[in-house]
Parts: sequence; structure tokens; C-alpha cells
Amino acid sequence: MTKVLVVGSINMDLVVGTAKFPRLGETLFGEHFATYPGGKGANQAVAAARLGAQVTMIGRVGDDAFGQQMLATLGAEGIDTRWIGISATAATGIAAITVCDGDNAILVIPGANGELSPAHIAASEAAFADADVVLAQLEVPMAAIEAAAALAAKHGKPFILNPAPAASLPIKLIGQIALFTPNEYELAVAFEGKPADWKALLATLPGKVVMTKGRDGAWFTDAAGVLQHQPSYPVAAVDSTGAGDTFNGAIAAFWDLGLAAAARYACAAGALSVTRPGAQGGMPTRADVDAFLATRDAA
Ligand code: RIB
Repeated sequence: MTKVLVVGSINMDLVVGTAKFPRLGETLFGEHFATYPGGKGANQAVAAARLGAQVTMIGRVGDDAFGQQMLATLGAEGIDTRWIGISATAATGIAAITVCDGDNAILVIPGANGELSPAHIAASEAAFADADVVLAQLEVPMAAIEAAAALAAKHGKPFILNPAPAASLPIKLIGQIALFTPNEYELAVAFEGKPADWKALLATLPGKVVMTKGRDGAWFTDAAGVLQHQPSYPVAAVDSTGAGDTFNGAIAAFWDLGLAAAARYACAAGALSVTRPGAQGGMPTRADVDAFLATRDAA
């Protein structure tokens, strides 16, 4: 069982379903509203745990009802929440999400996530020593991510960075990352668009990037710099929120299988994740993914 340490955000998702996205200045009636556990960090932690990894999470919530709910949800997934701090000053992060025809638009208020500091990371050093692989995103401050990458390097643990939301990355951080998992836009922003062509960019980072491309699946270069493609698995999408997070959780959970096999599992898990509402609602178990792949392979 792979031991995955996730450093990242924890949000309550406030989700409105609508028949069409409102235009600027327009007021519409939505179709339904629900709250779901979310946040890129928590989502990736849950995805990895459902797929069989032993998961520990470092993060921060507020001293409020959402925070308690998020801690309970993560605990119920078997995730070690000892390193999740409770802020006395900031509320639990929230995401206002509009879902329409399986697509979404998201606004995040980081709240307590924005307080995660290098000091909190340093205080969690034991979790780094115990992990097989560390997985992080960019919904917590860059200083915390840099501290986490440095601590992973100190303990010789591979550091996977999902550079989402998109941000330009410090040079030193780039040097400490074992694998980047951006989408096409995030890749261009992370490396400031040099070179502009994503295939050329991937070739300069052999074995270090797996780029997700929505319905076009995932692309990566092997250790020799040769471009590889993992096609996606078409499904009827109900809610695409959390598909990328499921992909990332799976990459970490299947890290020991190597990138090609992990990307296949990750695309399958990502496909299953969009078939139910909520970021974590459709995240599959290992048995779900194996059964799904068996039907697709037989087809
Ligand atoms: O990646 C999806 C997540 O982004 C949502 O759960 C929301 O909380 C935002 O963080």
C-alpha cells in the first residue's frame, strides 16, 4: 500500500446546478443547490484513499461547522488528519461552483487554506519521513509548497505537484519536483510558455510531466523524451468537478507502477469520477477501476 502525503487545500463546495451559465449582469434561476466536500488537496487525498493508498493530509480549516464537517469526512475515508490545523482567525475555505451540462466554473475563497505556512509544514516533518510520495497543488500559499518540496527532498521522497490553479513556478521549486501534472494552460503558465508548443515543452522535461488534456486524455514523455499518449475513457459526464483531482490522487496512489501504468489507472479513475455529482461523489475504489477497465478492454 503506497503511503501518500497530501499537502493542500480543504474547501466546502457550494454548488449550484443550472441549465445555462449566467452572462455578465444577468440573473437566472438555478435548478438545484448542494454543499459537497471539496478543495483540491482534500479531493486528491480522498481519491488516493479510495484507490487503496494510505493517506495523510497536511492542511488547515477554520474553527467552524464546515471545518468540523471536512475533518469528519476525511476521517471517514480513513485519512490521517492529525496534521490538519484549526485556525482561530480564518474560516474554512469555500468554493462557489456553478455546474452546467457537466462543465463547471469555480470561485475559491481560501480562508484558512491561505494561512498554511512554512512553520506548519516544518511542524509536520514526521509525516514526510513516513511517506512514500508527497502530492501538492497550488491552493495553499507558494511558501508552504516550497517548504514541503524542500522537506520531501530532505527525506528523499518524490514530490508530485499539480500546478493548479495556474501559477508561474519558482526555479528552485521546479528543480525539486519529480512529476508535474498540469493541464495545457497550467503547463504554459507554470513554465511561462517557453517553449510555447506543449509537445516541445514536454520533450525538455522527460519523465517529469504528465499533462491532462480533457477528453484527449493524458500526454507525457518517457525517460527517453519520447511522447506518449494515454487516451481518455468516454463516459456520460454529470459533474466534471474533481476529475483532475481524481487523476492526481490516482497518479500518487499508483506511483510505484511507473508513469504509463499510473496514467492509465488515473484516466480511468478520472472518467468514473464525473459520473456522479460533487467533486468526491464519483471517485472510484480500486475495484471500481479494475471492473471499468475490464469492460473497456473487452470492448
Ligand atoms: O478541483 C476542484 C476543486 O477546486 C473543488 O472541489 C473546489 O473546492 C476547488 O478547490
